[in-house]
Amino acid sequence: MSNTDASDDRLDSLLDRLTIDEKLRLIRGGVDPEERATGYVPGIDRLDVPALSLVDGPMGVRAGTATGFPASIALAASWDPDLAREAGRALGIEAREKGQDVVLAPGMNLLRVPQCGRAFEYYSEDPHLTSRLAVGTIEGIQSAGAIATAKHFVANSQEERRFHVDHRIDERPLRELYLRAFEASVREADAGMVMAAYNGVNGDPMTENERLLTGVLREEWGFEGVVVSDWWAATDGPRAIEAGLDLEMPGMPVSEWHLSESNPITRLIDAIPYWGWLPRQTLARLLMTPWLPDHANPNLFDASHFDRPVREALDAGRLDERVVDRSVRRLLVTMDRFGVLDDDRPEPAAGDHATLARRIARRGTVLLDNDGVLPLDDPDSIAMIGPNVDRAKVGGGGSSAVDAASTTDPLGGVRDRAGAETRVTVEQGHESFETATMGASPFDGLDFGGEGAGGRIDDAVAAASEADVAVVVVQDNATEGEDRPLWLPGEQDQLVSRVATAAEQCVVVVRSAGPIAMPWADSVDAILACWYPGQADGRALADVLFGDCDPGGRLPATFGRRPADYPATDPAAYPGIDDVVSHEEGLAIGYRHFQSADVEPLYPFGHGHSYADFAYGDVSVDEETVEVTVENTADRSGREVVQVYLDPRDRSVERPPRELAGFEAIELGAGESRTVAIDLPDRAGAVYDPDAGAWAWPDDRFEVVVGRSVTDERGRAEVRLRR
Ligand code: BGC
Repeated sequence: MSNTDASDDRLDSLLDRLTIDEKLRLIRGGVDPEERATGYVPGIDRLDVPALSLVDGPMGVRAGTATGFPASIALAASWDPDLAREAGRALGIEAREKGQDVVLAPGMNLLRVPQCGRAFEYYSEDPHLTSRLAVGTIEGIQSAGAIATAKHFVANSQEERRFHVDHRIDERPLRELYLRAFEASVREADAGMVMAAYNGVNGDPMTENERLLTGVLREEWGFEGVVVSDWWAATDGPRAIEAGLDLEMPGMPVSEWHLSESNPITRLIDAIPYWGWLPRQTLARLLMTPWLPDHANPNLFDASHFDRPVREALDAGRLDERVVDRSVRRLLVTMDRFGVLDDDRPEPAAGDHATLARRIARRGTVLLDNDGVLPLDDPDSIAMIGPNVDRAKVGGGGSSAVDAASTTDPLGGVRDRAGAETRVTVEQGHESFETATMGASPFDGLDFGGEGAGGRIDDAVAAASEADVAVVVVQDNATEGEDRPLWLPGEQDQLVSRVATAAEQCVVVVRSAGPIAMPWADSVDAILACWYPGQADGRALADVLFGDCDPGGRLPATFGRRPADYPATDPAAYPGIDDVVSHEEGLAIGYRHFQSADVEPLYPFGHGHSYADFAYGDVSVDEETVEVTVENTADRSGREVVQVYLDPRDRSVERPPRELAGFEAIELGAGESRTVAIDLPDRAGAVYDPDAGAWAWPDDRFEVVVGRSVTDERGRAEVRLRR
């Protein structure tokens, strides 16, 4: 008997011995006695089934203090799946060290609209780049013996009314864009869990979307793991379980979640006399509803759909117990596969995660513009300016927020690195921000533009004019739960413009969740995009500013000149009308849109300067491997990201003018050259044929375009692709 047969038999016998009550306890969340987990499935002691603990999230483990990694979009800006693997492994190790079994990451929704409030938690506007990063991260998490969760399945591309909206997406963009990273997560990385999103797709909420949860995810892709709901996403237990949802989270109303004496919600409820005739849940609903913002989850007090409603459906014969067994089995299979069932897992091996966080922050930093001021050449004085120049930017608001044990801020990082010869002054020039938290407007209570704003800017201008270089650190303040404006909050644009005029040299450091408007871009000397750099913020910034490392990043998303230049600007497309989001733009998101609409971006997808210079040789294609020799012609080392795009020569069907098909990041010493070989993926050149329900190659003539960005072409060659 093989191992698999033996474990199949064991799981079958376990399933046979579980009572219906026990089964129902295994498919919905319960109370974590330690109050650490984000989600918790109590075990069944009688049968030695251990509990399962699930924890957020993509930028660090959200249970006590943990390493505050750079935002996922910063990781994506590294264009480095191996680095993602290291980051994932570190997340997995820290989760395991904290007694957690499942990591609720990575998030892999596409940046369909730059306003997406969780842009910092996702990777890119491009499905290929997203897939590579997602696969790396999942493999890393799972290599540490933790279970990864591909989220949020699927099309959760906006926070605005995310609990209500239904995304209407044609089959081609669904397959060619939005499903791709999930497919790779299942087929290539063998993710143990998938999280069903809040939103609906083509008429059905994702927690009840049988076509996608069962038809596509399981039957087509062969997913054998667990589909978990997003928190309070399930609204109809019997329909959801039938459609393919396995685990309802958190399985209890918000008033009982993380039930502890110190919980303010609990304290509030406990302070009220408790009338037996008024259920606690109803009381909580009455008390709390008036205080919740209208974009709050409407299901916070509805739980648990996998308990009584499923039981009633079973009793009434509307639901077959085998459907419940199916989900219980998937949970047990997954716990068994990862060694949770027998607590038979590799010991988490400690690593130097602080150094890793710094390495990712450096590699994710994108040098958008540079008139030659960078790297800094031992200036006598530097003026450090910006509302939060003395605070590290660790994560955004919401479920991915991390409590980092130690941080370095830009001012501290630059002071440490500059040395005694350089005078570093500081003038914030602007009121500082608290990091946004979910449910509260990030800008509540801030007196932007009020009395004193002009005075603070004057002080910053004075400091800038007295220094050799002014470094202005600006930022947005995004949070899960709401979408983000595309302009910097407060008076920061004015601050930058005025400092740029006064300073001899002005470097702007942008810490943002994603693309942001930069009306001052042409009047400053250098711009660095650092995203949310995490705990190593200041240190990594100093590494790049002083040239101790190359700014390794390239843009994972297009920066447009104006908000109107982006796709989906029609209200029907974003944020939707009457809770219907029509994907009118079809395949034309991100650079696909900028290219097909012939709109010149401010900074194109894939863009980023190095401190070195690179020369590209001729491009050749052998079978389906693209080869090009790249030489570092500078007198210093540098990191280059070689990008391969495909241009169709014929278009018998609608196609974007250009699509990313491969990439490779390389480090080259001064004068060094290397031949890079990049394999085209199996589906290169294919489109999804909705009638046939399969991938197809209606055209076979393509040009392979090698570039430093989607618009900075360095060579091309012809290729025929058909399978
Ligand atoms: C988020 C998920 C997260 C969950 C648990 C939800 O609000 O959408 O990404 O994992 O909360 O914190």
